[in-house]
Formats: sequence, C-alpha cells, structure tokens
Amino acid sequence: NTPNADEVAHMDWTALKASVAGCTKCRLCHGRTQTVFGVGDEKAKWLFVGEGPGRNEDMRGEPFVGQAGKLLDNMLLAMGLRRGENAYIANIVKCRPTDDNGRDRPPALDEAAACLPYLQRQIALIQPSVIVALGKTAALSLLGLDPETPVSKLRGSVHRYADRPLIVTYHPAYLLRNMADKRKAWADLCLAMAIYAGAD
Ligand code: URA
Repeated sequence: NTPNADEVAHMDWTALKASVAGCTKCRLCHGRTQTVFGVGDEKAKWLFVGEGPGRNEDMRGEPFVGQAGKLLDNMLLAMGLRRGENAYIANIVKCRPTDDNGRDRPPALDEAAACLPYLQRQIALIQPSVIVALGKTAALSLLGLDPETPVSKLRGSVHRYADRPLIVTYHPAYLLRNMADKRKAWADLCLAMAIYAGAD
C-alpha cells in the first residue's frame, strides 16, 4: 500500500513520514536498517539536499551524521545556520544504496525517480527560500540533466527547482577528499546567501 505520487503530493508531515518509513517503492527498501527522512526546521528558509544515506545515516536514521556531516555542519555554521535551526537537510533517496559488496554507492536513476515525490512534498511543505544541491547526484536528479554533466558546469549559476532558486555546490564528502575545492564551495555558498538576501 505504498502511495502514488499524487497521494504523496497531498500529504501532511505525519502522513508523509509514515509513508516514507514504510515505503517499498524500489529495491533499496530491502537493504535498509531504517529510512532517513530528513532533519531540521520544518519552516526552514534553507534546504540542503544530499545524495542518500550512507552506513552511519542508515544506522542513526538521520542525514549527514558521519565525517561529511561534520563538514556540512561547519559549512552551515559559516553561513550562520545550524542543523535544525532555519535549515533542513534531506537526501534524494531515503534508503541507503549499496553495491554487491555492501559499500555505499550513488542511487540509480530509477531509485531517485521513485523517491523524488517525497522530497517534492517536503519542499512544498517547507517552502524554502533557497535550495542548495550538494553534489552531482542531487543537482542532476533535481535539474533532470544528463548524468555525465560535471558539477563544475553547474556551479556559479542560479538554477530553479519547484519555483525556487537552486544553487549547486560540491558534496561535502568530495570536499573531504579535495580540500583545495573548499574555497570554490564557499564561493557557491556566498552566491546562495546573496540570492537569499535578494529573495527575502
Ligand atoms: N551523503 C549524503 O549525500 N547524504 C547523507 O545523508 C550522508 C552522506
């Protein structure tokens, strides 16, 4: 009894959370410990969208709780934001994708498509002023672009999603491996803050 996209589009928070918790719309439901719905202020002006839960998130039921999450929290602090205060954090998929060896992997296109109505409803309920897509998977899933498009091509412009401005930056896990690009990520967040200042 998984709801269809039209039913999801009319849900309140309680119904949406219950639907995600029991979702069996794609194969990812078989490998999860629990779903990872999202966390934060339900009236947040800022929405940060990652890729999908990893091992830590699958165990804790909260997005971005590992090393990449620490960096994300620091990025938020630098913007004057805190997890749970004026910021909401969610992922493209709510269940942990793993490969045949049990390692984290990006979600497949059909998995992202199956899960997207939940994020769309979260966005409609939150009504954020600015959406920040963290990395390639989030950016390409939301913007519906060719999977080969590099993040570097999407940075520096203001895109739109669900009638809201969307800024693309690097995924925190990528930044942990490529520290030199932190400077560029900060430029992206500054662009997002300028858009936010103009939008309010
Ligand atoms: N990476 C993501 O994209 N999302 C998480 O929740 C954790 C790591």
